[in-house]
Amino acid sequence: MTRPVDAVIDFLQAEQARGVSHIMLDEGAREGLRSLAKRTRTTATAPAAASQPAPTVAAPRPVETPTSVTATGSSKAELLASLRQQAETWQPARALGTLRETMVFATGNPDARIMLVGEAPGYEEERKREPFVGPAGQKLTDILKAMGLARDEVYISNIVKFRPATPRQTTNNRTPNPAEIASCLPFIRAEVEIVRPECIIALGATAAEGLLGNAATFGSLRGSWHEFGGIPLRVTYHPSYLLRSNADHTSRRQLWEDMLAVMEKIGMPISEKQRGFFIPKR
Ligand code: URA
Repeated sequence: MTRPVDAVIDFLQAEQARGVSHIMLDEGAREGLRSLAKRTRTTATAPAAASQPAPTVAAPRPVETPTSVTATGSSKAELLASLRQQAETWQPARALGTLRETMVFATGNPDARIMLVGEAPGYEEERKREPFVGPAGQKLTDILKAMGLARDEVYISNIVKFRPATPRQTTNNRTPNPAEIASCLPFIRAEVEIVRPECIIALGATAAEGLLGNAATFGSLRGSWHEFGGIPLRVTYHPSYLLRSNADHTSRRQLWEDMLAVMEKIGMPISEKQRGFFIPKR
């Protein structure tokens, strides 16, 4: 039997699949949901009440989080440059007071077939104002090379455009929190809209959660296809994870399997040598 609440659940799931992570409810929608909840509780204990007419619930109003950005320009490069300019003084991020001042946008090819998204710039990225230029960036460059790609053939960005601050910060970095991620989400959405890559790779759990807007575990997200802004998305390990001494052979192999899946998805040629990487020799 379809319950009135199922329509709301369907709506929320569809929004989540579109990449929406926040829904604003006005007072009317809240009141409707309260009465739905009350009614669901009542029908659970008194089935006869199920024949009452369903309360009208105003559809929740989706909101771009927290404000959308508008890019202007007549080429992809110009549109991205206009986003970059807006990011410099982006109030929703600045107002949090938890992010450092230097804005680090993105690097690479606006016509890229593959877009890679990390979490936030670190010490090295802030210094050079370019994503993935520290040790994790070197690892990423190596992974791309193994795929037969140079850095300037792909588009590399981060979900958060400022380095998260910590007390007495020197070279240490921290993972961005949900508010920091939400504050910058309009940019990655707009970047995807402009670049329209054939495939997105979310590097690590933070980028995956931020893009997919759900709290599923990294293990359950990895190994299958998802979607962001209508583009196929693959979740894989953050390159810094592979730099840790305890990253085992299995995770290296799994990351490589994710890259092979991406290459297959967009029809890149794959050599026998590439297929055999990380497979133990007999
Ligand atoms: N880690 C990230 O997620 N992004 C960077 O740009 C650098 C390190």
